[in-house]
Amino acid sequence: MKKTLSLFSLGLVSVVVLIGITVYSVESYTSQSDFCGLSCHIMDKPYKSWKESPHGEKDVACVECHYAPGEKTTLTAKFRGLGQLFSYLSAGDQEVRKRAHVDDRSCSSGDCHQRPEFIEKKLEYASGVSFTHKIHEEKQVEGQVLHCSTCHQHVAGTKHFEVPKQICHLCHFKNSEVASAGDCVTCHELPQKPLQSQKATAEIKEDEPLITHQSLKDANVPCESCHYELVLGDGEIKDNACQDCHDMPETLKKIGDMQLMHEEHVAKQQANCFNCHETIQHKESPFLDPARKNCEVCHPDHHIYQKMLLVGAERGAVQETPSLMFGSRTNCIGCHLEEKLINGEKVMHGNGQSCVSCHTEKHDQMLDRWDNEVREGLSSVEELKIESLALLKKATGKAPAESLIEANKMYAEANSNLDIVRFGNGVHNKKYSILLISEAGYIFEDLLDLLEEVISN
Ligand code: HEC
Ligand code: HEC
Ligand code: HEC
Ligand code: HEC
Ligand code: HEC
Ligand code: HEC
Ligand code: HEC
Ligand code: HEC
Ligand code: HEC
Ligand code: HEC
Repeated sequence: MKKTLSLFSLGLVSVVVLIGITVYSVESYTSQSDFCGLSCHIMDKPYKSWKESPHGEKDVACVECHYAPGEKTTLTAKFRGLGQLFSYLSAGDQEVRKRAHVDDRSCSSGDCHQRPEFIEKKLEYASGVSFTHKIHEEKQVEGQVLHCSTCHQHVAGTKHFEVPKQICHLCHFKNSEVASAGDCVTCHELPQKPLQSQKATAEIKEDEPLITHQSLKDANVPCESCHYELVLGDGEIKDNACQDCHDMPETLKKIGDMQLMHEEHVAKQQANCFNCHETIQHKESPFLDPARKNCEVCHPDHHIYQKMLLVGAERGAVQETPSLMFGSRTNCIGCHLEEKLINGEKVMHGNGQSCVSCHTEKHDQMLDRWDNEVREGLSSVEELKIESLALLKKATGKAPAESLIEANKMYAEANSNLDIVRFGNGVHNKKYSILLISEAGYIFEDLLDLLEEVISN
């Protein structure tokens, strides 16, 4: 009994020792950068990019960064390493991308980056654009705690990690609370050179006023005058962003809680900004076409009258009368099918052929009838309009002020009814147009009655 027990203990001890030796040698072997780089083909690229980075040159081992200090020998760390291995085995020859988790402590352990070294230093990030860590530590988006690898992340290509510009742009151009942070001069030092090309070669006299970026800024000239659409996109949440990683309805519902989203994913390092957000582009773009193609800048209410006719909303005594095609949701493009050249420009015109294609041959003539009816209607009130205007002039200075104010209001109202028909082209809603025209006629008549009465008194 005793003998068997001691034999058993001896066996147990040897097994433990053996495991110990194995774990130790596996531990030290797997901790070498060469293990990662050479024995695991998905690590080829990270190994190469590390080798060529300043950290590779100084031979900082993979585990120095990829396990937090003190975590290296723990079971969790090993399991995490195994996880990476399994995903390598199951992936076969495919390239798999597995995002790394780098703990902040890895960056500033031992002799590595101590805060005083870099925290307040003004770094040159891009030409004319500086960056200071300290300011960014203090100013964060709700719920976020930025980690070193929030910014210093692997993007693509040959760099092991870098700070992608998109991350600056997401915060600076999206953040509503620090909207001023989107100010151009928050980041940019203004170029110094005068903008007049003539001054590049000519001798510049002293006191000569020059156009420089500073002079433009002092005069509040918008930067957009010359740098238009430098910022594209608004960093909205991608469609199905969450479904890439989650499928539980309760989890997906939490999307509205921005603070929670940032706490769970940014602070806890579970996802990258661009797993959720679209990127915001910020770079120089062609300067003429984007401005030219943005019609709304210069034509803020383009074709509003046509829309008013198609909708046919209630106006004064005129009842709501939508166009005949409104119920079927026929839009502008449904009828404007004919290409014509006007003032040298291609424009798609409306014509009777479009009616025919949806309706019958006869509908072409219907269009002509509508056109004529509207035209006749307009000319029938023209005379009343001219009379009203003449009487208004005559009454000025004679009629009491209140009556004049009232009469002017009536004139404006009637005239705006006519404008809708004239500028909007009555064919877009013949019935409504006729109603607007006759209502204008009644108003002119009332106006004439009113003024004739006060003048004759
Ligand atoms: C908000 C983004 C951001 C965060 C968060 C961030 N960095 Fe940086 N860091 C930068 C930028 C931008 C640079 C400029 C150089 C570059 O392009 O890589 C930089 C540069 C550095 C440098 C080089 C300094 C030098 O003198 O050239 C070090 C070291 C550094 N960061 C360490 C850290 C550490 C450690 C953390 C975490 C505690 C951290 N960073 C967090 C954006 C960030
Ligand atoms: C100086 C610290 C440091 C060292 C040393 C280092 N890495 Fe990294 N590694 C990082 C950081 C930081 C990232 C980016 C993390 C992120 O994107 O969130 C990263 C990313 C990675 C990734 C993920 C790539 C991806 O597609 O997102 C892999 C894999 C990787 N490293 C492997 C290695 C291997 C293998 C070695 C050694 C040969 C190594 N690293 C050495 C800091 C380091
Ligand atoms: C997490 C959001 C966030 C990110 C990411 C971010 N910033 Fe900022 N940054 C801010 C906020 C907030 C301020 C403060 C603005 C203010 O006070 O008006 C700021 C201030 C600045 C300033 C002015 C203060 C200074 O440091 O002199 C500069 C320049 C700047 N950021 C550049 C950058 C650059 C370059 C990047 C990318 C490497 C970047 N920022 C990334 C949020 C961010
Ligand atoms: C978050 C900081 C930040 C803000 C705010 C910012 N920029 Fe930039 N800007 C950058 C960075 C970074 C680049 C890229 C520089 C590079 O690629 O070398 C850039 C590029 C540019 C370029 C093109 C330069 C080139 O070499 O192609 C222009 C012009 C410019 N910005 C003007 C503006 C204007 C105008 C505004 C205000 C609407 C503005 N920027 C706001 C950081 C910023
Ligand atoms: C009158 C037109 C005009 C206005 C207004 C203007 N810029 Fe510029 N900007 C230019 C031109 C032209 C250049 C290119 C100059 C060059 O290449 O030497 C330039 C260059 C720049 C650059 C440098 C890009 C690079 O390639 O390095 C930045 C940054 C910049 N502008 C920012 C601004 C900001 C910020 C404002 C508003 C305060 C502004 N600009 C207003 C015309 C203008
Ligand atoms: C890149 C992958 C990724 C993306 C994209 C992502 N998450 Fe997560 N999320 C995670 C991980 C990993 C956790 C941590 C899970 C844990 O701790 O069990 C997490 C945690 C959470 C949690 C807290 C834990 C829980 O299950 O209640 C919520 C809520 C959540 N995510 C919601 C969202 C929503 C909503 C979106 C889309 C806006 C989203 N996530 C996008 C990876 C992601
Ligand atoms: C899990 C998904 C998720 C991740 C990861 C994430 N965000 Fe967000 N973020 C959101 C949601 C949801 C909102 C609120 C909806 C919106 O504003 O479009 C938001 C809003 C924002 C806003 C607007 C804040 C405001 O006050 O209006 C900024 C800026 C922002 N995020 C920056 C970032 C940055 C920088 C990162 C990476 C460091 C990041 N986000 C990572 C989901 C995410
Ligand atoms: C920079 C300002 C500006 C922009 C941007 C602009 N326009 Fe114009 N547009 C005008 C001005 C001013 C007129 C009036 C010309 C006149 O008085 O005869 C006009 C006239 C027109 C006319 C009347 C016919 C003509 O050629 O005279 C049409 C149609 C028109 N624009 C369409 C467009 C469309 C479509 C876009 C966008 C793709 C656009 N415009 C963008 C300023 C602009
Ligand atoms: C039901 C068919 C139809 C719809 C819907 C329609 N149009 Fe028209 N539109 C026409 C027809 C037909 C003409 C030509 C009338 C004529 O020859 O006098 C016309 C004329 C015009 C004209 C005058 C110049 C021209 O082509 O003769 C403009 C401008 C116009 N439409 C704009 C619009 C806009 C903008 C919309 C949408 C908001 C719209 N239309 C919707 C049929 C339609
Ligand atoms: C894209 C197909 C389409 C075009 C083009 C079109 N219509 Fe119609 N139209 C319809 C539909 C569908 C209805 C029925 C709408 C409803 O009942 O709400 C309708 C209704 C009508 C009616 C009311 C009587 C009826 O048949 O229901 C008239 C009259 C009419 N359209 C005339 C025209 C004329 C004139 C044109 C050319 C200026 C035209 N339509 C262009 C599809 C079209």
